[in-house]
Amino acid sequence: MMDSAQEKGELPPHYSAVAAHPPHTARPAWHRRGIRKSRGLRYIGLAILVFIGYAQWRQIPESTNSEVTAYGLSIERLQEDLATCAKLQTKPVDPAGLGREKNARYVDGHKPTLIKNATVWVGEPAEGTSAEDARAGKGWSWITADVFLEHGLIKRVEKDISLESVSKDVLVYEANGRPLTTGIIDMHSHAGVDSLPELWGNEDTNELSSDITPYVRSIDGIQPGDHQIQVIKSGGVTTSLVLPGSGNNMGGEAYVIKHAVGKADGRNETSAADMLADPDRTWRYMKMACGENAKRVYGKHGEHGPTSRLGESWEFRHAFEQAAKLVREQDDWCQAASTLGVESVRSYLPADLRWESLTALLRGQVHLNTHCYTIPDLEAFVDHTNEFKFKVRAFHHAHQTYLVPEILKRAYGGDPPASAIFADNMWYKAESYVGSEHAGKYLWDEGLTPIYVSDNPVLNAQHVVFEAAKGYKFGLPYHAALHSVTTAPAERLGLGQRLGKVKPGFDADVVVWDSDPLSLGAAPVQVWIDGTAQFENPVELKKPAPELIVPDESLGHIVEEPETVSSVIFTGISKSCLNNKAVESFKELYHFSEVAVITNGKLTCVGLCHSAIKAANASPQPPKTIHLKKGCLTPSFVAFGSTLGLNAIDAEKDTDNGASPNVFSRAADGLALGTKKLRVAHAYGITRAVSAPKFAGGATHHGTSAGFLTGAATTLESGAVFAPDAAVHYTLDLSAKRGEGTPSIAAAVGALRHKLLSAVSDLNTTISDAYSEAAYLRKVVTGQIPLAVTVHSADTISALLRVKSTVESALASSSSSPDPPSLRLIIIGGAESHLVAEALASANVGVVLSPLFSYRKTWDQRRALTGAPLTNGTAVDVLLAAGVKTAIGLEEDYRVIELGLLAGVVYANGGGRIGEREALGLVGGNVWDMLGLEKEKGEKEHFVVWEGSPFEIGSRVRGVGGGGGVVSVFE
Ligand SMILES: *[C@@H]1O[C@H](CO)[C@@H](O)[C@H](O)[C@H]1NC(C)=O
Ligand SMILES: *[C@@H]1O[C@H](CO)[C@@H](O)[C@H](O)[C@H]1NC(C)=O
Ligand SMILES: *[C@@H]1O[C@H](CO)[C@@H](O)[C@H](O)[C@H]1NC(C)=O
Repeated sequence: MMDSAQEKGELPPHYSAVAAHPPHTARPAWHRRGIRKSRGLRYIGLAILVFIGYAQWRQIPESTNSEVTAYGLSIERLQEDLATCAKLQTKPVDPAGLGREKNARYVDGHKPTLIKNATVWVGEPAEGTSAEDARAGKGWSWITADVFLEHGLIKRVEKDISLESVSKDVLVYEANGRPLTTGIIDMHSHAGVDSLPELWGNEDTNELSSDITPYVRSIDGIQPGDHQIQVIKSGGVTTSLVLPGSGNNMGGEAYVIKHAVGKADGRNETSAADMLADPDRTWRYMKMACGENAKRVYGKHGEHGPTSRLGESWEFRHAFEQAAKLVREQDDWCQAASTLGVESVRSYLPADLRWESLTALLRGQVHLNTHCYTIPDLEAFVDHTNEFKFKVRAFHHAHQTYLVPEILKRAYGGDPPASAIFADNMWYKAESYVGSEHAGKYLWDEGLTPIYVSDNPVLNAQHVVFEAAKGYKFGLPYHAALHSVTTAPAERLGLGQRLGKVKPGFDADVVVWDSDPLSLGAAPVQVWIDGTAQFENPVELKKPAPELIVPDESLGHIVEEPETVSSVIFTGISKSCLNNKAVESFKELYHFSEVAVITNGKLTCVGLCHSAIKAANASPQPPKTIHLKKGCLTPSFVAFGSTLGLNAIDAEKDTDNGASPNVFSRAADGLALGTKKLRVAHAYGITRAVSAPKFAGGATHHGTSAGFLTGAATTLESGAVFAPDAAVHYTLDLSAKRGEGTPSIAAAVGALRHKLLSAVSDLNTTISDAYSEAAYLRKVVTGQIPLAVTVHSADTISALLRVKSTVESALASSSSSPDPPSLRLIIIGGAESHLVAEALASANVGVVLSPLFSYRKTWDQRRALTGAPLTNGTAVDVLLAAGVKTAIGLEEDYRVIELGLLAGVVYANGGGRIGEREALGLVGGNVWDMLGLEKEKGEKEHFVVWEGSPFEIGSRVRGVGGGGGVVSVFE
């Protein structure tokens, strides 16, 4: 494949000065043509003669000097080199879309498709809209149209395309008015090179032999069989830029693939080459990375760098210098060879495979994507672009770009790089500590381009459109949010005339959605790639007829910091979701807007509240009144199992309580409050958290968890630690093998059983330290504290259920009481818990799904359900249907920003089986039930006042009550 493409001039020239020169050009014509049977025999004799002649002729150039220059160089080769000069100096242009008869990716025989009655997002404003108006959001709309796909292209987008006007073999798809967009584009993925579930043998993300490896190529590691490629597509993502990882300053070449693999997806081949979005390889792509990764991976003090950003800049500049030198040498050679003739040059065209791709970058043939978070990284890299004169298409992980638009604008080439970002994934390392969920909006306001990406498997790229939805929620205009995952990445990839729009001439990558793609839980009902439907029996969720989002410009009004007041009146509360009978009965009596009066941080009245308002307004300092449109009141949320209160920056030891695989400890002894994470958590309605010390990495646990108020400044504040020892935690996920004395899962399960059985047999002994592991285990076996085990695998959960019954039997036989306590078990993690849902329900075991939507990232999660259209529901649906007490956990702390949204996704995708209250219970009441904490206690102090339904993407938090006699108000 590569050779033939190279012959056709579609590939860059071969790299090596010593490359072999096959004699293919000398092949006689008959060798290639077929021979008609009837004459075949007559030709054989002749052919033998010709062959002998040919063989002798082949000897000639090698036996004489006539084809060699005075300097002993092959003329043939010099001429090839001269031809290469032209290719070296070609600047690619974006490949055209319109005018193609067929998409080069079209597989013969595939029938055309007519999608009837769709509501289409074209990706462009109405004709005649000025660029300025378009940017401001004018002229954009969803239109009703039919879409005709043929030969891998979108051929027509019109109202009422008649069947008579298209070919007879057309496949008709009724969209029934549902939203139709182009396929989503993920401009930062490691799908295929970092296959899931992650296994060492399949891990090919980074070539870590050296910091500077511009010469490696992600395509050489792409596994078409990575199931995640299919999962990603099930989220409507049809195209991804597969980048090498960010371990190296120069990571290597990247490739744009489409998510159609092999026969099952309508392709000819199961190969990475067949997945290439542009088989002609018009543009090349490359990945570089600045910042802490390279210095962490490579730097060794006194031995080799880079150990600092200073060293990294040197690595970059040194590499660019090599490439620039080679470019100069090549250009000089080409100049000499073309003006003086190839006979006069003293060498072949200079070439060096190590620097070839980098020279192509300097020649403008490569689209560069650079991972840079921080201001110094961005500034240094922009300096390199100007020193060596090359462009950057996008800065990735560009958390701080919104702070320095001027640096982006002075990047070489006059075309500021886009910012490929996450909507809200941050705080995981120092570089991502300064970030904002409003970055997309701020960049847009500066005339820059935010693009939401997954970094799959960092985020599950299946949900990259959710990143765009959050971008909208956090202030990016609606059309810009859609732009950020369609037209914007298409343009940055140099494929803007082929991808990203639903227009004639574009590739036929199309998604029909079950709801507005930016609404919570939006899922495709069908996906086409190059005109071929990708799902044979897609699961379609039961949802009401889609209502398109009416863009709400008020979301662009950002309140960075709330005001803290003791009393406030909210009006316009049209719906109370508070789990309070009194409020309910009130609602039934009065069908008009209600009011919430908050006095000294407490909800003192919900309803009409005439007298409460009067009283409040008569006080010496009357509270302010905030008028809401479609206000809603809910209980506040609870974060269970995160590292909130124990960590500020995941990767920074100094900010972290630390991991204790071998020491049992209490979170209450390590709580560190007043962090940014806690402030943000509180602002998004999480007023209480229950956190346990880490066992090993992030979402693992060992010790007792503490329940505390996220709004408290110190643990000494009254009520700040409301549950000093909420649960006893152990970890049985894959990291369990890292514990002392537990080299295997079997050993870890056995060790836990041994501890519990010992606690039973020691029940009558005295424990001198009331804060020791033994003391807490006694509370566990006597049913006073729940046992929370972090575990994903259905097999290990099964083993744990057996441990539970073994311990309960031991309790029964050692106790004289007729009703011995049962172990109160909670599972945290639970990716595969759906497989044992019935058993969990009958053993009365609760599950905290963490993450809520597992995507089989690790081996012990490999049987997770990834949702429609691939699977019928996810774990949460199965658990709730089986009657398991379920909650949503946070496997990473940034999810505090979206915890409420996740409950909304469960609600939206529950097929009507999960009510609003039940969904809210997943982030509040159910945790309380599992922990056996008193629920009603804090209800009047722990609440969220919303503008809009919390189950809709466009809702905003306007007030948060989280104890302490105050309420946070966002105005
Ligand atoms: C796919 O295979 C068919 C049959 O072998 C062939 O006609 C067609 O050209 C191939 N298409 C592509 C895109 O390779
Ligand atoms: C398009 O779909 C909508 C929603 O199902 C339906 O109400 C409408 O009648 C359909 N229009 C046509 C022309 O079929
Ligand atoms: C503990 O003491 C009680 C009362 O003396 C006795 O009934 C029970 O069997 C003892 N339990 C164990 C485990 O020794």
